[in-house]
Formats: sequence, C-alpha cells, structure tokens
Amino acid sequence: MSTDVIVLAAGKGTRMYSDLPKVLHTLAGKPMLSHVLDAAVAIDADNIYLVTGFQSAQIRAYFDQHPIDAQLNWVEQTEQLGTGHAVMQAAPAIDDDKTVLVLYGDVPLITPGSLQQLQQQAEATGIAVLTLVTDSPEGLGRIIRDQAGEITAIVEEKDASAQQKLITEINTGIMAFNAGRLKHWLKSLTTANAQGEYYLTDTVALACADGYKVASLQTHDNNEVQGINNRLQLADLERDYQIRQARQLALQGVTVRDPARLDIRGPLLIGRDVCLDANIIMEGSNRLGDRVTIGPNVTLIDSDIGDDCVILANSHLEGANLSSGCKIGPFARLRPGTELGNNVRIGNFVETKKSLIGPDSKVNHLSYIGDASVGENVNIGAGTITCNYDGVNKHKTTINAGVFVGSNTALVAPVSIGRGATVGAGSVITSDVPDNALAIGRGKQKNISGWKRPVKK
Ligand code: UD1
Ligand code: CA
Repeated sequence: MSTDVIVLAAGKGTRMYSDLPKVLHTLAGKPMLSHVLDAAVAIDADNIYLVTGFQSAQIRAYFDQHPIDAQLNWVEQTEQLGTGHAVMQAAPAIDDDKTVLVLYGDVPLITPGSLQQLQQQAEATGIAVLTLVTDSPEGLGRIIRDQAGEITAIVEEKDASAQQKLITEINTGIMAFNAGRLKHWLKSLTTANAQGEYYLTDTVALACADGYKVASLQTHDNNEVQGINNRLQLADLERDYQIRQARQLALQGVTVRDPARLDIRGPLLIGRDVCLDANIIMEGSNRLGDRVTIGPNVTLIDSDIGDDCVILANSHLEGANLSSGCKIGPFARLRPGTELGNNVRIGNFVETKKSLIGPDSKVNHLSYIGDASVGENVNIGAGTITCNYDGVNKHKTTINAGVFVGSNTALVAPVSIGRGATVGAGSVITSDVPDNALAIGRGKQKNISGWKRPVKK
C-alpha cells in the first residue's frame, strides 16, 4: 500500500478570534494539526502535503521546532478558492498510482482505523468518502444516494433543495482517491455553484459519470469527524476526549474518583492500583508507579512518580523524579530537577528545585531547597532556605547524611554541612560545618530584666 496524505489547513479560522492559527490551538495539550499529522504517520503515509494559506509562517515555525516522523511537504494556497482548489495545489506532485487521503487540519480526532478502511476502499474503487448520520446536518454537504443506495453526488447546503436538506447523512470532508483519477476529476471542477468555489465534493458526481462506484464508510463516532470552527467546539471536544480517556483508565484498573474532573494532556504510563482524586491535571509525559495516590487539585508535568508515593492536595510537580514511598504536600511545589530517594517527605509550602534529596530525608514545612544535594536521613527544619543565588550566579549547597537543620536557617551557598552535623535554629550559615559538629550562627540572646515598656503620651 502506498499512500500520500493531503491535509487542508489554509482556512482563516475567523471564528476563533485568535492571533494563533486555528490548527495550532491545542486539544489534550497538542495542536489540532499535530493530532491529524500523527494519524497520517500512524497509517504510514509516504508523503504528507500540508496546504496552508493564512498564518502559514507560524504553522511552519511550529513544525520546524516539533518535527514529525514523516516527510512534510509545504504547499501554499494563496487564495482560498475552495476545498477542490486547495487539493489542486498539492495533487500535481503526487504519483498517479498512489492512493491519496484528504484530511482537514481542523478535524483533530480522525482515527487511523477509519483512514485505513478508506484507503482500502479507494484502492478498490478509485474514490471513497467518510460519512456520518447526524441529527444536525445544517451547514454540511449532504450525501445523495440512488435507489440502490449508491452514492451519486454530494450537495453543499447552500446548493441543496429543500428536499435534499432533509438528508441526514453528511460528508465529513474526509475522502480518499486513486491519485491519477483525482487529478483527472480535478481538471473538470468549476466554480458554477452557490459559493463560487471549487468544490472537492464535485469529484463524486464526476466519478459516477465516469462509471466509478463511490465507496463509503459511515462512522458512528461523532468526535472523530468533529470539525472545529470556534473555541466552544474545541472545549466541548476536549471534554469528550478527556472523559473518554478517564473512563478508559477506570476500565483498566485505575481508581478515578470523577472521570469528569481529570485532564491528561500527553502520554501517561500508569501502574496498578493507582488512585486519582478530582481535578488532577497532567501535562507532558508522566509516569505513575504502582499504588500511587494523588490527591485533589494536583498538577503533574513531565514527572516520574515511583511506587507507593502519595501526592497530597494542591501540589505542583514539574520535571520531578520520585523514587518509591515518597509523601508530598499538601501545597508543595517540586520544580524541574527535583530528584527524591525512597521515602522522602516534602511537606506544605516547600519549594524544591534542581536538588537531590536522599532516602528517608524530610523537609516538612515552609522551606526552599534549590541547587542542593541532600544526603539520606536528613531533617530540614521549618523555614530553611538554601540561599543559592548571589544576584548573579547560582551556588550549590551540600547537606550530608544524618544532618539536622534547625528551623529558620539560611544556608548561604556555596556551603557544605558535614555528616551528622547539627545546625542551631535561626542560624545564618556562611562557612562549611565539619562532620558531627553543632553550628550556631546567630546573635547571642541578651535578657534585660526589669524592662519597662514605653507608654503612650
Ligand atoms: C466542506 C465540504 C462539506 C463537508 C464539510 C465538513 C466541500 C465543498 N464541502 O465544507 O461537504 O460537509 O467540509 O466540514 O468540500 N480549506 C482550505 N482551502 C480552501 C477552503 C477550505 O484549505 O480554499 C480547508 C479549511 O481550512 C478546512 C477545510 O478545508 O480545514 C474545510 O473547509 P470548510 O470551509 O470548513 O468546509 P466547507 O467547504 O464549508
Ligand atoms: Ca466547515
């Protein structure tokens, strides 16, 4: 099987009211157009022709930075004269013996399964259409069938008779062709219609006139053919997609407290007996080990959570790597480069960044640990700050195994605390502390007896 794909994405997207090209608006964290291109890659398309017009430079810039696993050919349609015209811009480059699939950049959830079936149908017959029966066919092209049920034409809403408007089977816009035939039929398209456009859909009547049988596949999945014209449609499709994903997880053995309140925007690897509470957002690639529990309102971005970890409510983790048995939050913020050993405890209002924290260590309250290396069995008291930034450069703090840091301590980096050392509460530590020593760096307490408070005059 040898298939090329043409993706139409030249439309203006007026109803998005956006400076961002419509097809770069995201669904489940990924541009709509990337979903479409991924489907094309999934069916092993040889060449992908992307027809763009409005804001093509922005679309190009995006895919220069996020390349796909296939040859992407850029085709400019300077004037939007219709879907037929858009396909005409790409068709000449395609070999006659190929199968061509026409997709829309704003129909993001098209499935490789349907594309494969259309591909096979077009190989057998020369032309195939993906259709849908719907309660709301308004605005869409209607599928005209003869007495025998064969497709004879597609009529656009604006060209349709009152009788034809009653038809509920619509053209999804997704079609497949033998390339040689397509090129032949494109030559005969005219703009003699209500919109003065070159309609790709007119190829159907032309194929019939040439004695070709028009194959069709009826999808029963509204979402896979849902086109996006405005942000409300995008939001609705996102919800459907998320709920489906959540229900799927539940069926695979994940406890999902409320499938309507879970957002997964990217790949997720998930273990056994994981429990997800409400309003969790996962972005980028995440992995959750076995028996992980995640509380409400947690955001996970590109993080790896080991077995038996518990992430309590309102925590935010990005680029964090947790070994097993860690307990995080509530209200913790783990920033990129946070690496935790087994059974680490990070409590409320603690921020960590680019830091390695060894097994069984605890940072329970109100601390900032950045650019630090913390050994095992360390206890960091409330309000400890690693002063890693001198206003120009970042410096490292090393806290060795078994250290106890008293509350409200400032560790001015670069600095190192030796194994088993203790730091007195309220210290400002500016020089290294030897193993097992007690370091106290604070003003000495003075008590003045018989002190009289000032009185108001
Ligand atoms: C088209 C179909 C209609 C189908 C509907 C499904 C035709 C004539 N009509 O309607 O039967 O029911 O899709 O949504 O094909 N585009 C270009 N260049 C153009 C025109 C369009 O790239 O010159 C792209 C748009 O960006 C969009 C897609 O083609 O991604 C469809 O265009 P749109 O105007 O939304 O569809 P209609 O022509 O209204
Ligand atoms: Ca449309």
